[in-house]
Amino acid sequence: MNDHTGTSANEIPPLVDPARMSSWPPPSPAPQASPTSPTPEPSPRFDAGEHNRVSDPIPFRRPDPQAPETVPDPGPVTTADPEVKLGPTGRPMPDLPEPRPIGIHGNARVISMCNQKGGVGKTTTTINLGAALAEYGRKVLLVDFDPQGSLSVGLGLNPHDMELSIYNLLMERDVDIDEVIVKTNVPGMDLLPSNIDLSAAEVQLVHEVAREQTLQRVLQPAIAEYDVILIDCQPSLGLLTVNALTASDSVIVPLECEYFALRGVALLKTTIDKVTERLNPKLKIEGVLGTMYDGRTLHGREVMERLVQAWGDTVFHTVIRRTVKFSDSTVAGEPITTYASSSTGADSYRMLAKEVLARCLDG
Ligand SMILES: Nc1ncnc2c1ncn2[C@@H]1O[C@H](COP(=O)(O)OP(=O)(O)O)[C@@H](O)[C@H]1O
Ligand SMILES: [Mg+2]
Repeated sequence: MNDHTGTSANEIPPLVDPARMSSWPPPSPAPQASPTSPTPEPSPRFDAGEHNRVSDPIPFRRPDPQAPETVPDPGPVTTADPEVKLGPTGRPMPDLPEPRPIGIHGNARVISMCNQKGGVGKTTTTINLGAALAEYGRKVLLVDFDPQGSLSVGLGLNPHDMELSIYNLLMERDVDIDEVIVKTNVPGMDLLPSNIDLSAAEVQLVHEVAREQTLQRVLQPAIAEYDVILIDCQPSLGLLTVNALTASDSVIVPLECEYFALRGVALLKTTIDKVTERLNPKLKIEGVLGTMYDGRTLHGREVMERLVQAWGDTVFHTVIRRTVKFSDSTVAGEPITTYASSSTGADSYRMLAKEVLARCLDG
C-alpha cells in the first residue's frame, strides 16, 4: 500500500499506477476557481502509509466555511483539444458503441452490486441498470438478495404476498427456480424476489454443506436462460454477501459521492480478495460507480477526484447524479427508464448499461 503516494483516500486500495494518473486533475473551468478549488498538487501530509488503517480518517482539505454552498456545475469540460470533452470523472468521455442486438440468449454474466454501506444506490442501480440492459434487448434476471426486499418492493411487489421467495429456493431442495421467478413490468426483465424470510437463511446456511456456494448452485439453471444476472446484495459482508460474490463473475461497487462513503471500501476490497482466493478465482471488480453525485458542490467533485486517484479506470465514466426522480420512481414501483424515460437519471443508467456491455458483455 505504501508505494502509492499522492492519494489521500488511501483507505481505498491503490489499484492504479500513479504515473498513469499524472494528468489528473484536469484544468479547472472558470467557475471552479475559488479558494477551495482542488489544487493539483496533493499535500505531502497526505502521504500514504500514515493513514492506511480502516479506522483512520481520510484527510481532506478543510473546506472554506464561507464558500457558497453550490457553484454552477461545469458539465462536460472542453480541453485544449476542442474534440476532447472531459466527463464528471475528469477523464475524456469514451465513445460507447450502440449495443448490438443478439439473437441467442444465455451464458449469463453474473454481476453483484456490493457495498456494505446502506443507502449508496445498490438497489437503485440493480433495478435501473437491469431495465436499461433489457431495453437493449438483453434477457435480465434480477436477484433480490437483501432481506429488506427493497428491490422487490421497488418493482411493485408486496413482500407479504409472496408465496415463494429466494429463501425457499435456497433452503428447500424441491423448489425449482422457475417457480420462484416472477415477471416484472419491464419486458425481458425477471426477478427472484425476497422478503424478511431471507434473514433466517443467513443463520440456517451456517449449518449447510458448501454454505458459501448455495446461491451459485440454485442460480445454475438460470445461466443458460439469461444474458445478465444482477444480484442486489444486502448492506453487510456476511454469509449472504459471500454467497453472492461466490456466485458472481464480477462486482459493481456503487459509491455515494460523499466523504463517509470512501471509508470502509478497503474492507470490501479485502472481502472480495478473500472470496477470489478461497472460493471464486474468476471474480473481478467490474467497476466502481459514483452515485448521488452533485457537480455543483466542490465536495462532490473532490470525492470524485479521490475516487479516480485511487481506482483509476476501474471507475465507470458514467456517474449517477443526485435527483429526486429516483425516489419518485421507487414510489411508483418501476425503473426510472420507464417512469421518467427521458430524464437524466434514465439516460445515465442507459449509458452505464452501454459501458457495462462494452466492458464485459459484448467485449
Ligand atoms: N442518484 C440518486 N439520487 C437521489 N437519490 C437516490 C439516488 N440513488 C438512490 N437514491 C435514493 O437513495 C435511497 C437509497 O438508495 P438504494 O438504492 O436503496 O441504496 P442501497 O440499496 O445501497 O441501500 C433510496 O431512497 C433511493 O431512492
Ligand atoms: Mg438496497
